[in-house]
Amino acid sequence: MKVVVFDNYEEVSVQVAQLVEAQILRNDRSVLGLATGSTPLGLYERLIEGVTSRGISYQNVRTINLDEYLGLGEGHPESYRTFMTDNLFNKIDIVTENTYIPDGTPDSAEEECLRYEQVIDDVGPIDLQILGIGTNGHIGFNEPGTDSNSLTHVVELVASTRESNARFFPSINEVPTHAITTGIKSILKSKQIIVMATGKDKAEAVKTLLSKDMNESFPASILWNHDNVTLIVDRDAYQLVKS
Ligand code: GLP
Repeated sequence: MKVVVFDNYEEVSVQVAQLVEAQILRNDRSVLGLATGSTPLGLYERLIEGVTSRGISYQNVRTINLDEYLGLGEGHPESYRTFMTDNLFNKIDIVTENTYIPDGTPDSAEEECLRYEQVIDDVGPIDLQILGIGTNGHIGFNEPGTDSNSLTHVVELVASTRESNARFFPSINEVPTHAITTGIKSILKSKQIIVMATGKDKAEAVKTLLSKDMNESFPASILWNHDNVTLIVDRDAYQLVKS
């Protein structure tokens, strides 16, 4: 795992945007793995800017998102589909049919998981996967204890994840209890992975990740099994790492 430290959130966003755009310039049919959460918002702003200022086109790009809340349909304001539409897809020239996110209101969640893993295999492999990290080390919605061989599956969200995501909902009672997430093994199928971590709230998680103790109780640590991972952090997130 390569580690790159920048001064602040802004610089992290600019750097990751450059890497994403370089990938698209290398191959305009690239498959991007995308994440939700607050961390990639600055990145998405830069990517939107890249379309108008740098002539980057997403016409042929495909995107595969990590996860979706179970029970939230496409039109729900807090579904990850809505998040991606509002914060990125509607503001770049991507074709909606080329954007993949698990269906949050499937007839059968189990069948949706199988279908989505097939999407990852048929549309992928993902050239460049962007990941955030939960304070408990979750990636996607792979909570502590997730099998490192997991493919796309239904997960029950742990209390701390529901609490930290409650900021987007009118009350914690409205935060879904379950989600569909791509598994650890699904994520490891990506050719290249960039983990973004910013802010002091992520300092403990970054310290644990960089202790190199591979353990399913800290899902992000399984990324040490992949040979092309870059952790891009700001100083706040890196502050507990002894140099
Ligand atoms: C969420 C998402 C993850 C995200 C993480 C961190 O629950 N499912 O994909 O990386 O939590 O979110 P944030 O970037 O807001 O800290």
